[in-house]
Amino acid sequence: MASAGVEIRPADDSDRRAIATLLAAVAEERDGIATEPPVDVDAMTVKWRLDGTIVAVAAGAVVGQVHVEASRFGFGELGMMVADGWRGRGVGTALVAAAIDWARERGLHKVTLGVFPHNDAAIALYRKFGFVEEGRLTNHIRRASGELWDVIEMGLLL
Ligand SMILES: CC(C)(COP(=O)(O)OP(=O)(O)OC[C@H]1O[C@@H](n2cnc3c(N)ncnc32)[C@H](O)[C@@H]1OP(=O)(O)O)[C@@H](O)C(=O)NCCC(=O)NCCS
Repeated sequence: MASAGVEIRPADDSDRRAIATLLAAVAEERDGIATEPPVDVDAMTVKWRLDGTIVAVAAGAVVGQVHVEASRFGFGELGMMVADGWRGRGVGTALVAAAIDWARERGLHKVTLGVFPHNDAAIALYRKFGFVEEGRLTNHIRRASGELWDVIEMGLLL
């Protein structure tokens, strides 16, 4: 369960800027997600897809989000982040549980995701829900530094 006082709910229009701002902050870490700075927060505020997005809200602030991008082929691709300072308190767990519920309700048969091999917290989180490793894309993501990072593909049949 998420920490007391954290609400998990579908995102709405009023969350757009907060989600984009969270993305920009996590991108600055240059660690867990593929997106790196600079993030155009104004553009991301406009183009963020709310369908399939669930937010974690504490004291009126968005402290985490998960998005499942439903494909035409029955699977959905999950991406997520929790604000630094809110991690390790069950917010990610609550978001993944809600995302799986959303995917089931949407009639998807599978949730997939890509995760960097060094992202121990994320991999532990996904395994906890039964996601299994299905493959590894080698030298897949080119970072701003020029490094090429592998991606582990994980999947959960619903
Ligand atoms: C990955 C992330 C979403 C996890 O969110 P979180 O709110 O910290 O997750 P939780 O507190 O629910 O912890 C989930 C599980 O992760 C594991 N975990 C948490 N922190 C960990 C760490 N530092 N190392 C190893 N495992 C860890 C635990 O198994 C925990 O489950 P448990 O408490 O039942 O034992 C969060 O760290 C994050 O946003 N990171 C930056 C962005 C990112 O990497 N996104 C995912 C891209 S694939």
